[in-house]
Amino acid sequence: MTTRNKSMFTIGKAGAAAMICALALLMGCEKQSADGPILIKFPHVTAPATPKGQAAERFKQVVDERLAGRVMVEVYPSAQLMSDDDSLDGLAFGEVQMIAISLSKLDRLTHKFQLFDLPFLFPDLQAVEKFQASDNGQELLTSIVDRKILGLSFWHNGMKQFGGPKPMRTPEAAAGLKFRIMESDVLQAQILQIGGNPQKMAFGEVYQALQTGAVDAQENTWSNIYSSKFYEVQAHVTETNHGYLGYLVAVNPDFWNALPDDIRVELTAIVQEVSAWANEQSAGINLAGKEKIIASGRTELTELTPEERAVWQQAMRPVWEKFSDVIGADAIAAAEAVGQSAE
Ligand code: LMR
Repeated sequence: MTTRNKSMFTIGKAGAAAMICALALLMGCEKQSADGPILIKFPHVTAPATPKGQAAERFKQVVDERLAGRVMVEVYPSAQLMSDDDSLDGLAFGEVQMIAISLSKLDRLTHKFQLFDLPFLFPDLQAVEKFQASDNGQELLTSIVDRKILGLSFWHNGMKQFGGPKPMRTPEAAAGLKFRIMESDVLQAQILQIGGNPQKMAFGEVYQALQTGAVDAQENTWSNIYSSKFYEVQAHVTETNHGYLGYLVAVNPDFWNALPDDIRVELTAIVQEVSAWANEQSAGINLAGKEKIIASGRTELTELTPEERAVWQQAMRPVWEKFSDVIGADAIAAAEAVGQSAE
């Protein structure tokens, strides 16, 4: 069964389950709050010392302080509870109440977030932040409510780098390599565009795939490369900053709407405060990861000159045209314009 077929099957199952869950939630939620604290199970796949890990912990701490006895948050890092793919179904089923999933992985449900995967669209996190705060960005939060995913906020990780068996100063150096990518058709096209062989794979499998040679290369942020120890099993990282990795912080809308009003208002405020805090920390956490990787001496860093980076940019640009009908040329232009004005 192909990934796409499997996805269609699971979405159907999730859709039906979500309806059952909605009924259960509507009947059960008030009772839950009368009997004991409302439980928010929050699984994610990265280590605690990552931008997302820190943000999730902070969310738990602030909820503990401000909603003690009324709401309890359980954070499950490092894919302890489930993979990202399973967490989309878990949210729809009511098995978990909150997720922070990579925007790339929403591709299974909708093409609306594909924009974030376009290579070199956003020059840096400031540009992404400006776009996410714009009307176009904010509309995305509620754009997949019908799939039982209500976005509350965006969290950054950072910009992605290429890691592999050799320096990748030019796109030609990447040709022929097997790259692990997240489950996104834009990322797949991006790797094909440079003559690589893309392999969609869950985050939790990447270390072993690099170690055994099932893949040669991967793209990720400094903090993920450091905390998941990819630097132990890849000899080189080339600092391309070619794409964005960030998250949709989301809840099941039926769970959310069934919460007592005062709790929902307070949780909304907490999510906003924690998001602002987290998005200020992310660049520093990535920088620290980069420095620790260099200090380890296990991975060699290649920095690109502006001219080399421009060659990469040019080589990947056809990916924009490939997806412009689906994403919308206007949406791409709006994101690009926001990015340029943020520089
Ligand atoms: C990945 O799979 O590489 C990322 O989505 C991991 C993460 O959540 O940062």
